[in-house]
Amino acid sequence: MAWEFRKLGPGENVAVEAQRDPFAAPKWAPPVWHMPEGLVLVVNAVRALVRTVVFLVRNIVPVSVLSGLGWLGYRYGWTVPVVVLALVAVGLVAWAVLERPSFVRWVVRPAHGWWRLVAVYRRHWQPVLVTAGLTKVHKGREYLPSLVRVRCGPTSDRVLVKMLKGQAPDAWENVTANLAHGFGAVLVRVRDGDRPGRIWLEFVRRDALAVPFPALPVPDASAVDLSGLVIGRQEDGSPWRLRLLGTHVLIAGATGAGKGSVIWSTVRALLPLMMAGLVEVWAVDPKRMELSFGRPLFERYGRYSSDPSGGMVALLEDAAADMNARAERFAGVTRSFTPSHEHPFRVIVVDELAFLTAYCPERDLRKRAESALAVLTSQGRSVGYCVIGAQQDARKEVNNLRNLFPDRIALRLDEDEQVDMVLGDGARDRGALADQISSVPEIGAGVGFVRLETTPDPVRVRAAYVSDDDIRDMVALGLPDVEAA
Ligand SMILES: Nc1ncnc2c1ncn2[C@@H]1O[C@H](COP(=O)(O)OP(=O)(O)OP(=O)(O)O)[C@@H](O)[C@H]1O
Ligand SMILES: [Mg+2]
Repeated sequence: MAWEFRKLGPGENVAVEAQRDPFAAPKWAPPVWHMPEGLVLVVNAVRALVRTVVFLVRNIVPVSVLSGLGWLGYRYGWTVPVVVLALVAVGLVAWAVLERPSFVRWVVRPAHGWWRLVAVYRRHWQPVLVTAGLTKVHKGREYLPSLVRVRCGPTSDRVLVKMLKGQAPDAWENVTANLAHGFGAVLVRVRDGDRPGRIWLEFVRRDALAVPFPALPVPDASAVDLSGLVIGRQEDGSPWRLRLLGTHVLIAGATGAGKGSVIWSTVRALLPLMMAGLVEVWAVDPKRMELSFGRPLFERYGRYSSDPSGGMVALLEDAAADMNARAERFAGVTRSFTPSHEHPFRVIVVDELAFLTAYCPERDLRKRAESALAVLTSQGRSVGYCVIGAQQDARKEVNNLRNLFPDRIALRLDEDEQVDMVLGDGARDRGALADQISSVPEIGAGVGFVRLETTPDPVRVRAAYVSDDDIRDMVALGLPDVEAA
């Protein structure tokens, strides 16, 4: 066979290869289809149709309104839709003036939510998610998590997301900074969704707690709810409600964290019921600083003294003894407590709890205080006793009564490990960054995290700032039968 040198024609190289090595594995090339032009046109027309239908369904409300108005104009002349629009505008203004909360709820929030959905989330959804690495490409096709719903609050948006199959919330938690920058939010948090495979993304647009706010007005006695005293604000701008009935509250925060403002806001919210004789506050003030200022407000006031009959320890023991007497009386009669003049709801406020249980120099006083507190916290809940303890140090060795306080507030803490010690395991991972709260009083004092009954996720809150003048006013409001111990 004669060798021949020549340029290969198209498709010939495979045959030449086979000639060189008859045993070589055959190589297959995909056939090239030439699509008829008509078919290309049909496919594109169907795609455009599907996109239009999706757009119409997604924007069903504005599309229906516009087409309705258009139809009216076409059928009856253009003055008719103009009159209809004017009437609707007048109706909305009247609604806004007369019933503002329901107007905000049913008109402003949904409209704002729709606007944010269109102008922010849907618009930037694909580029931000691609850059943050939350999409997947498989066999050349891009899979994008879907945006289900947007809800707008006064300071934050909640976006419901259907994740990709096989994706976990962790993947989103790792890129919250990318999402925040991508969608122009201050902060993003990932919350459990309404069903598996879905999550809520919480975009904080504006920090409602950035600047301190003054003491809240003293409420009417009828508006005071011992299951939810309003003492400050939550991050979304809604009221922060603190439960006292049937629980005990521990406030943990480093020095200057604002424990005083939580205590004083609580006392202020209780004031009308204190004046009515249905609530008594007994104050224990080892440092003689925080609570002495409002001493006339307290039914009893105890401070540190080395005298063994010791003011504050005696106060706690009296409270424990009275609580036992109440428990005896109520046993088998009633299971739920309602405050009365005979049996007022008693709030025992202890500033600097750790002094009583760890730092007090007299060992005997320490033991007595600890056992009285243990009795009060373990049995007092159902008979109208509530202990509010404040302390700087959250470590276990300092306060072994900590687990007796069902409700806890973490203000600014010195170390990240203390967050879970105060709020329970996993709280910091779920967003309670109490160790990162600013130590500048204007920014961070009174700011903290709480766990509410309704959700396992910690909520950021700030207590109202009760100034010395406010306390003076509260004292001046006066209690009919003040008895300072
Ligand atoms: N809710 C608040 N808003 C704004 N500023 C506050 C608030 N609470 C406290 N502050 C400011 O922070 C300062 C310290 O607060 P506070 O005395 O309540 O701290 P603390 O936690 O009780 O500290 P310590 O453990 O040293 O007693 C206050 O003097 C006040 O200026
Ligand atoms: Mg203090």
